[in-house]
Amino acid sequence: MTEHPAELMRRLAANTRVGYSFDQEFYTADAVFKADMDQVISRKWLVAGHVSRIPNRGDYFLYKIGSEQIIVIRENDTSIRAFFNVCRHRGSTLCSEESGNKKLLVCPYHAWSYGLDGRLIAARLMADDFDKADNGLFACHVRLFHGLIFINMSEDAPDDFDATFGDMGPILDYHGIADARIAHAGSYPTTANWKLVIENFFECYHCVPSHPEFCSIHGAESIVAVGAGPSSGPADAIASFTPMLKAWEERAAALGRPIGNMDDAPDSSHLRLLMQRMNKEGWASETQDGTAPAPLMGKRTQADGGRMHLSFSPFTQIVADDHFAILFQFTPRSALASDVEMIWLVDGRASEDEVDIDKMIWGYHATTTQDKVITENNQAGIMSSRYRPGRYSEQEGSVLKFQKWYLNQFGLDRAE
Ligand code: FES
Ligand SMILES: [Fe+2]
Repeated sequence: MTEHPAELMRRLAANTRVGYSFDQEFYTADAVFKADMDQVISRKWLVAGHVSRIPNRGDYFLYKIGSEQIIVIRENDTSIRAFFNVCRHRGSTLCSEESGNKKLLVCPYHAWSYGLDGRLIAARLMADDFDKADNGLFACHVRLFHGLIFINMSEDAPDDFDATFGDMGPILDYHGIADARIAHAGSYPTTANWKLVIENFFECYHCVPSHPEFCSIHGAESIVAVGAGPSSGPADAIASFTPMLKAWEERAAALGRPIGNMDDAPDSSHLRLLMQRMNKEGWASETQDGTAPAPLMGKRTQADGGRMHLSFSPFTQIVADDHFAILFQFTPRSALASDVEMIWLVDGRASEDEVDIDKMIWGYHATTTQDKVITENNQAGIMSSRYRPGRYSEQEGSVLKFQKWYLNQFGLDRAE
């Protein structure tokens, strides 16, 4: 008999020991992935993309998550809509290209036609009792926030957007995210469960063995203390790093940067995080030689040598230097597959000549390519009959917090 999803999650949570990685099934079972989609992923505000991807009426792109395809489309100057790519007749997908422009959404199967607002406009030879008004496309909740298109697939009322993210507005404003332009995009599809992708991003214990480029441009004390979040390192490392951080914060605040951290608790809806700290001494930007690859971004008038790490949720992150920002999207596709997309943003006023793309992407392209390999290795090992949950180090505090947050989405906790 198939185990009920709630029963399955309860059993697995009861096996999870504080300080240890998850059981195999959390990372491999289709039933867990389905529960993840239903209870976690479908209920979160996720960044589908940057608004500059769809500047004109009818421009669209597909955002694929789990077995869902979402058509993110510009309805008019002020409205962006997101629809499930499912015809209300017999369920064909409407759009098959990854992006494009549509005046109407016409189903390729029997030609039912929908407006850019999702209403069914035309359906041939239907009986008199058929009501087009009942057959519009299913929509997602959408919010455009500082140039970022957030969608939420929840069938119920989603978490209040402004209450959840409103306090991040001044930070995004300072970085000029709304008016930024996409300078480069990279795709790093990873054959691993989404939790492994996120756990890897949430710790820097692996940075020294796996990321020579990243470690060459960051101070060792910063990597250990706050490599993956304000509370991700051992307490003594955080204590000795703090005075250096405070001194930089004072300098940065004097230049206009909004200073502050956010470090949401595991019982929060989105586990948001904001961390700002300085680059290695002498490094203006996270490039190989430390020099800037592009003009200053956003409201800055002067560089402060800092970088920001902002999580809207474990699924969507921004890393921003003074001269460029990277949007990371970690998108679950199936139990054993995740999409990892990176979009490099530069100031909207920066011309192509002013941006050295190779120089800009050098560090994080190398790092994410390495992360793909180590995460796939992690998944492959977890598939073994001899995988057992292993003990976390003192540098993996943010992973423990993510575990607790994840179980909390099901109303569960780890065994103490
Ligand atoms: S499935 Fe779309 S018109 Fe028939
Ligand atoms: Fe990494």
